[in-house]
Amino acid sequence: MTTSPSSQFQDRMLSLGLARVSEAAALASAKLVGRGDEKQADQAAVNAMRTQLNMLDIAGVVVIGEGERDEAPMLYIGEEVGTGKGPGVDIALDPLEGTTLTAKDMPNALTVIAMGPRGSMLHAPDVYMDKLAIGPGFAPDTVTLAMSPQERVAALAKAKGCDVTDITVCVLERPRHEEVIGGIRETGASIRLITDGDVAGVMHCAEPGTGIDMYMGSGGAPEGVLAAAALKCMGGQIYGRLLFRNDDEKGRAAKAGITDLDRIYARDEMVTEDVIFAATGVTSGSLLPAVQREPGWLTCETLLMRSKTGSVRRMNYRTPIETT
Ligand code: FBP
Repeated sequence: MTTSPSSQFQDRMLSLGLARVSEAAALASAKLVGRGDEKQADQAAVNAMRTQLNMLDIAGVVVIGEGERDEAPMLYIGEEVGTGKGPGVDIALDPLEGTTLTAKDMPNALTVIAMGPRGSMLHAPDVYMDKLAIGPGFAPDTVTLAMSPQERVAALAKAKGCDVTDITVCVLERPRHEEVIGGIRETGASIRLITDGDVAGVMHCAEPGTGIDMYMGSGGAPEGVLAAAALKCMGGQIYGRLLFRNDDEKGRAAKAGITDLDRIYARDEMVTEDVIFAATGVTSGSLLPAVQREPGWLTCETLLMRSKTGSVRRMNYRTPIETT
């Protein structure tokens, strides 16, 4: 009898292993928090994540990674990871989401990884993606990318049964978002501007208590797929449209097998099957605390989620410093 990749995907068994991978990257990069060196922090996270990933009994392929093979020596798109002995899985990862946040010790730097059966995640090229996200509990298409920022705020306020002034939108602070920010300001809604880290930005929409209702604006397409994987576990909607600035970027899409350049992807089109997702806090933030250092010990917290069950765990890990 043949089994499909999704029936072979041992998501329950693999989830603790995934948490270990995420923890290892966070502990490695934590040593470089606030040291002003983004590259070193990222490299430490990449090395640790790859080492842990290669201990897992999976036949894994990186589909969202550190870049193309010719630009990233480790965890590049297409790299095979794991012992090769277990189920065939696709992996989307960002060993350090928020390299600048880490270097400057600013909030919400995370290590992020998602795993699903082969073919379960969009092979997004390294281009920008226009993103729009809201939390769980709303009808499909409550807000859409076709709407203006003003219309999105009004539609979400109506669906929530609140005033537009009670809505808070999270946006990356970039000159390219001047118009989006202006449109939201016109409505009287509040804006939480973030300097980096839009995976966390999107996750804030689905995490109770963050005060964020909606995320909008453009950021990395790979981060869009990771955010979609998170929301598939937490609930919530995300839409994404790839943005191309030149022929080189269109070429990247072609290489990834994407032919419809204008397509709008809903969450379940970016992540088509059940996945597991882990994120560990590197710097302190509204989703996760920072890695804590005390003499001889490091402690971190990981959010570990499975979309099949909707289970969300928060796991604390404490380890002697020598072993990291
Ligand atoms: P890095 O951790 O790779 O530096 O990415 C951080 C980030 O803020 C992402 O969260 C976001 O998607 C992207 O950069 C935005 O890109 P840009 O800085 O070009 O606006």
